Amino acid sequence: MNIVELKSVANAIVAKQKGVLAADESNPTIKKRFDSIQVESTEENRRRYREILFTADGIEQYVGGVILFDETLRQSTREGVPFPTLLSSRGIIPGIKVDQGAKALALCPGDKVTEGLDGLRERLAEFRQLGAQFAKWRAVIEIDERDIPSQFGIRANAHALARYAALCQEAGLVPIVEPEVLMDGAHGIERCEVVTAQVLEAVFAELDAHRVQFEGMLLKPNMVIAGKKCARQAGVQEVAEATLRCLRRYVPAAVPGIVFLSGGQSAEDATDHLNAMNAMGTQPWQVSFSYGRALQAPVLAAWRGQESNAATAQQALLRRCELNGLARDGKYDRAMDHG
Ligand code: 13P
Repeated sequence: MNIVELKSVANAIVAKQKGVLAADESNPTIKKRFDSIQVESTEENRRRYREILFTADGIEQYVGGVILFDETLRQSTREGVPFPTLLSSRGIIPGIKVDQGAKALALCPGDKVTEGLDGLRERLAEFRQLGAQFAKWRAVIEIDERDIPSQFGIRANAHALARYAALCQEAGLVPIVEPEVLMDGAHGIERCEVVTAQVLEAVFAELDAHRVQFEGMLLKPNMVIAGKKCARQAGVQEVAEATLRCLRRYVPAAVPGIVFLSGGQSAEDATDHLNAMNAMGTQPWQVSFSYGRALQAPVLAAWRGQESNAATAQQALLRRCELNGLARDGKYDRAMDHG
């Protein structure tokens, strides 16, 4: 492990104004996104869609890294330039999703655990050779009214995240550690804060036990937010305050950056929340984004699978990136989305 190199990659991903474009939807997930715009999920349509994203003019000012799916890491532009090469040539760092999805945790009804550790050392070596410089692993923590997640469910996920992160650093890849507490459900923001705190505490204890160097990783957490079905939805400032309070208690200052997931928030809400946090002043770490849906929803809506819409789709992506770039400085205003 070369910690100097890992640190410099992690810092470059969250450089001023910059964040991450999460474009690592697995084939079942991208199919769902394409279904919503009546586009067939063929290998060529997936390639072309990602090409539209990665060749959008100007996004390199706001996008420090892109997370790719295995298939995408091996695809190329129409001219035959491999996507990782294209991204690197634009100053955007290519990354790779390496987990293999969340499955039911045996004997723990309701809890899930993410799979993908077997053979991971060999896969990481190949991904690095294909040009990836960082990786992502997502743990999924569901909240229900009573006792889900269980303490053991949290521990099992934290342990897997730490084993993944250690393997990444051994292989010279920056691990993005993503423990996602889902916003599905009817729980209030208070319960989300309690569970997020338990999860972060467990994750950093395991990372430390596994000798992961905090300086050479990034954390991708959920924001502290009410469940979608909760009658009382917290305001923007309340979300920002609860999220920073929770993170400041449990995330070591040695971590270079926090890159939030959007998790089903609207594009505007995700930008607004990020903005409110950055408007609260300097934090121990960079406070940035690693959005999937919140960056891509406007792009999919503009594209609709039509070649004639490609340029408009790219403008929609650039606009969303630019607004999140402003939110990195606390300079976004919701009115900008309605101008
Ligand atoms: P969302 O921003 O759509 O939640 O996606 C981010 C991601 O990479 C989830 O693993």
